[in-house]
Order: sequence, then structure tokens, then C-alpha cells
Amino acid sequence: MPLSPVLTRRWLSPRSWSLDTYQQLEGYAALRKALAMHPDEIIQLVKDSGLRGRGGAGFPTGMKWGFIPQGDGKPHYLVVNADEGEPGTCRDAPLMTADPHALVEGIVIASYAVRCNEAFVYLRGELVHALRRVQNAVREAYAAGYLGRDILGSGFDLDLVVHAGAGAYICGEETALLDSLEGYRGQPRLRPPFPATHGLYSEPTVVNNVGTIASVPPIVLGGAAWWKRMGPERSPGTSIYSLSGRIVRPGQYEAPMGTTLRELLELAGGVRPGHRLKFWTPGGSSTPMFTADHLDVPLDFDSVAGAGSLLGTSALMIFDDTDCVVRATLKWTQFYEHESCGKCTPCREGTYWMVRILERLESGEGTDADLDVLLDTCDNIFGRAFCALGDGATSPIVSSIKYFRDEYIAHRTNGGCPFAGSRRLVGAHG
Ligand SMILES: Cc1cc2nc3c(=O)[nH]c(=O)nc-3n(C[C@H](O)[C@H](O)[C@H](O)COP(=O)(O)O)c2cc1C
Ligand code: SF4
Repeated sequence: MPLSPVLTRRWLSPRSWSLDTYQQLEGYAALRKALAMHPDEIIQLVKDSGLRGRGGAGFPTGMKWGFIPQGDGKPHYLVVNADEGEPGTCRDAPLMTADPHALVEGIVIASYAVRCNEAFVYLRGELVHALRRVQNAVREAYAAGYLGRDILGSGFDLDLVVHAGAGAYICGEETALLDSLEGYRGQPRLRPPFPATHGLYSEPTVVNNVGTIASVPPIVLGGAAWWKRMGPERSPGTSIYSLSGRIVRPGQYEAPMGTTLRELLELAGGVRPGHRLKFWTPGGSSTPMFTADHLDVPLDFDSVAGAGSLLGTSALMIFDDTDCVVRATLKWTQFYEHESCGKCTPCREGTYWMVRILERLESGEGTDADLDVLLDTCDNIFGRAFCALGDGATSPIVSSIKYFRDEYIAHRTNGGCPFAGSRRLVGAHG
């Protein structure tokens, strides 16, 4: 399976982040083309392309744009979700650092399509390099007439605000993000109403991921049929797969949707020599883990779901035979306990207790009953929590017990971690 650089194709060019380089490599050509189209034509084009949101849920982008009520006389907003806090996920930050104008151009086109005159990028403030690059690109775009009043003489106006968030995982959840952007503490809102009708400042709002919006200029230039030629019918296009962990060449690999881990490992030099693949996440820590039995699952939204997990953010964290699955699960659960916003009881209390039980199990002091209590707690969180953070917190636990129950038990019979002494890998940040 070859690499298919579409979103990543400029990343290795000299000063790839500058307007000069961007313009030399077809930059803003899609905007010129889009501004000559009717906004509804652009929405239809994105619908026809089958583009699905890259933020995790894979929601069809054209359909989301089509939900924005037209002719309602209200301000419309576009908010780009650049919070990227999911453990293992490292795709939007490199994109914004290497090619920030791709995001800016996508924002102008998307805003024109949904009749929005004020757009926002909500960017995790600790991603300082990405923040500076995006801020600089916005300045350059204003100076060149790609932002501001009467863009390229089209009569279309757009202001773009880059907002640095303080770094809370929950602020990546779209409604918590909107609360945070409005200046409140970031906590999810009750839905319905959905952001399409009551979003930022209670006005119609589109929230899209960085990768989703950056996919729009190539689709405008290449057309829906070209985009659909890559990947499966229901998950077309390319994906930037982020490979991290126990592999020879970690990094970003852009390939058609539906590429398998076996193919990606060939590109990435494989699992480090002398070791074998043990477990991996297809899309970040909140997606149920896979094992070596899943090497040939096509990594697109539907195939991964069919195999019992989620594509999420296509963040593949790879662990080998020296890694303790109980410890990895403990570290991820500590992350969820820390990041739980506290709004609802199942997640606030459940993540606290799950960490206590996992600590016991990892240190070899757990009991057989602990595994049942853990699963029961997950059962009481999943589907009952106020937002998807709670559901995600159960994924590592349920899937690790499903595939590695023996390893949990071995911690008790061994009186501690059987992997103690080996170098441990913790696939969490935040
Ligand atoms: C706890 C939590 C964190 C999330 N973090 C992000 C994030 O960092 N970036 C992102 O694009 N979507 C994130 N999402 C998903 C968003 O709520 C939303 O679905 C997404 O921004 C929509 O964009 P898309 O349609 O382009 O995928 C998160 C969801 C949850 C529940
Ligand atoms: S599931 Fe509940 S407590 Fe957890 S982050 Fe969502 S709203 Fe907050």
C-alpha cells in the first residue's frame, strides 16, 4: 500500500508553513474556485465527496453543513476544533505546524459555504508551535486579502479568531468547547438543541475538526469523484494515521482510508526488532484496543466498528510483548479520572473508583472479584454518562479484560507485575 500524500503533501517543502510556499503549491487556488461557485454547490460537493469528520465520530461533513438554517437572518459561526487532547493523538498539531494555510483556506471555503462571517480556531494553548504558526498564517492571509473584507473581490467577508484553550480534554467535546470559547468553564451542554441551531452564543454553528476542514480545499480542486476513488465507498479519502509506540519509525503516515495496520507497519519499519505486536489502539485511548489478530482490519470507520472498536482519531498506539496491558490501562484510566469534568455522577465517581481498583490489581493486591466490579462499573458508566468521555473511559478496561484477562490474574498470582523491570511505555499525555 503506497503513501497517498494529500493533506501531508507540502509538509516536507522548505518553509512549508509560509504563504509563499503555500501559493507556489496550489495554495488558495481552491478558494478562488470556491468563491466562483454558489455556496450551496460547495455544500453539495462536500456531500457528494462523502467526507466524514476526522474528529472521531466520522459524521458526514456535508450533511452537518446542510443543517445550518439558511436565510434565518442570524449570525452563523464556524468553530474549528483544534484541541487534540486524546491520548496518542498527534495529527492536527503537525498539520497546523507544517501547513497552517491549508487550515485557513479550508476555513474560508467552509465559512463561505455555510454563510458565516466570523470563524474561530479553538487550539490547545500548550501546542505553542502550532499556535504561533496558525496565528502567523492568519496574519499573512489577512495581508494578502484571503481574510477580512471583500475577500478576493467576491463581496464575502470573514474574520478569523485564533483562541488558545487552557488544555482540558473535555474542551475537545464540541459543546464544552463552545462553553469554554464563550468564557465559561468547559463542560458539555445538554443536547438537543444541537450546535447546528444553538451553538456559539446560541446561534447556528458548525464545529469541525482540523483534518476535516483541511480536506476541503483538495476536494474543491480535485472534485468529489477523485476523493471517492481513494478508500472504501462509505469512508472515502485519505487518513493521516499517527503511529506511535514500539515501532521502528513512528510518525504520520497518510494513506487511503481502509489501510490495515499490517500495511502501515511495512511503511513504518515494523515492530522493533526482536519483539512482537501485543496490543494497539486504532484511534486513541478511548477506542477499544485490538491485538495481533486484528492486523488485517481495514482502518476505516465502518470496518473498525465491525471488528468491535472505533476509528476515532486514527491514532495507533502500538505496544509489544514487553508492555504490561494492566499498567497501560491504569495510566489511561488515571487520565480519564483527571480529565473527568465532574458534571455527571457515573463518570466522576466511576473513574475515581476504577483507578483505585486498577491500582490494586496492578500491584498484585487485587482479587478475582475486582475484575467483576470493574466490569460492572464500566457497565454503569457506558451509555449512562452525560457525554462520550465517560463511554471512552470504559474502552481500555473492557477491551483489555476481554483479550488479556489472564494477564490481570497473573498480577495476583505473581504478587505484582510480571513485566516489572522491563521498560514501560505509557501512551498517555495530558
Ligand atoms: C471528551 C471528548 C474530546 C474530544 N476531543 C476532540 C478534539 O480534540 N478534536 C476534535 O476534533 N474532536 C474532538 N471530539 C469530538 C467533537 O466533540 C466533535 O465530534 C468533532 O469536533 C466534530 O468534528 P468533525 O465532524 O469534523 O469530526 C471530542 C469528543 C469528546 C467526547
Ligand atoms: S461523562 Fe460526565 S463527568 Fe465525564 S466528562 Fe462527560 S459530563 Fe463530565
